[in-house]
Amino acid sequence: MSSPIPCHLPRVTIVGAGRVGSTLAQRIAEKNLADVVLLDIVEGMPQGLALDLLEARGIERHNRQIVGTNNYADTAGSEIVVITAGLPRKPGMSRDDLLRTNAKIVVEAAKNAIAHSPNAIFIVVTNPLDVMTYLAWQATGLSRDRIMGMAGVLDSARFEAFIALELGVLPADVKAMVLGSHGDLMVPLSRYATVNGIPITELLDAATIDRLIERTRNGGAEIVELMQTGGAFFAPASATSVMVESILLNQSRLLPIATYLQGEYGLEDVVIGVPCRLGCAGIESILELNLSDSERQALHTSAQSVRKNIERSQEILAAT
Ligand code: NAI
Ligand code: 2OP
Repeated sequence: MSSPIPCHLPRVTIVGAGRVGSTLAQRIAEKNLADVVLLDIVEGMPQGLALDLLEARGIERHNRQIVGTNNYADTAGSEIVVITAGLPRKPGMSRDDLLRTNAKIVVEAAKNAIAHSPNAIFIVVTNPLDVMTYLAWQATGLSRDRIMGMAGVLDSARFEAFIALELGVLPADVKAMVLGSHGDLMVPLSRYATVNGIPITELLDAATIDRLIERTRNGGAEIVELMQTGGAFFAPASATSVMVESILLNQSRLLPIATYLQGEYGLEDVVIGVPCRLGCAGIESILELNLSDSERQALHTSAQSVRKNIERSQEILAAT
């Protein structure tokens, strides 16, 4: 007798069923990528969201399972765990203001999730992103290829969107790469931004490019100021789903990803966004670009601010 066909479908757990988490669940299910487990501390909320998403399956023409839960046991055996649990920014708050609250939430979430899914690849979304990714890496003890942060894909998408708006071209024709930390010190690389291969430096003057870079740096804050009740979630969920897809479909995409550096770019023991190849085993390689002196300096300044907050987070966690 032939062996039975395995019926296990990929499973993605999303810890934190708030705006980013629930929108990501929708993206993953509707792209038909995986079954989804949505976990939150608020009782009933993830269950209600899961039911709502399930009721749309016939219309959206997919058959993915979506489970809502408050219990980590239900997340067992996940291929990917995405951590979005924690507070978003309020108007006037920086991402770093969130450090104190979110450090404890992320460490607890990472420990609980790895206990039930020891083979999972982790993607952290909670802010301040680079520090939270470092804490989750510490808490899980995973090798650096299996735990990473999402920010660069979002920041690059914002830069691309602003370039497309300025030039009146199709957004999909614009490609850009934003490195560094997810914050005011992010490093958008205008030299590597193109419209169907044509560098934007040939299409826009320096002052316009500087204005678009500044808008990209403020991309999150601009939305917080407009909404007044939380931050962006549609584009963050789309950006995270790109990473989930690259892993599940083993696409080996070259994406800006927050990863733990061990000497690359002259940086040690810090998490920061750099170009990585992402496939089914996680981060396959880190690409070291030949940066100019000013780009390298900007990346190091960005890393120093993350390093300072990593140290603050260690003090906070030690005191609890
Ligand atoms: P939200 O407030 O809508 O959702 C957060 C959810 O986390 C809530 O449902 C809350 O109940 C849950 N939660 C809190 N403590 C928990 C715990 N211990 N265990 C499980 N769940 C818990 O916030 P939103 O807008 O979804 O943002 C989530 C996080 O993602 C924020 O820190 C935000 O700043 C960050 N973010 C990061 C982005 C990035 O590019 N890396 C982009 C957008 C948001
Ligand atoms: C953003 O960039 C708040 O980090 C979040 O939209």
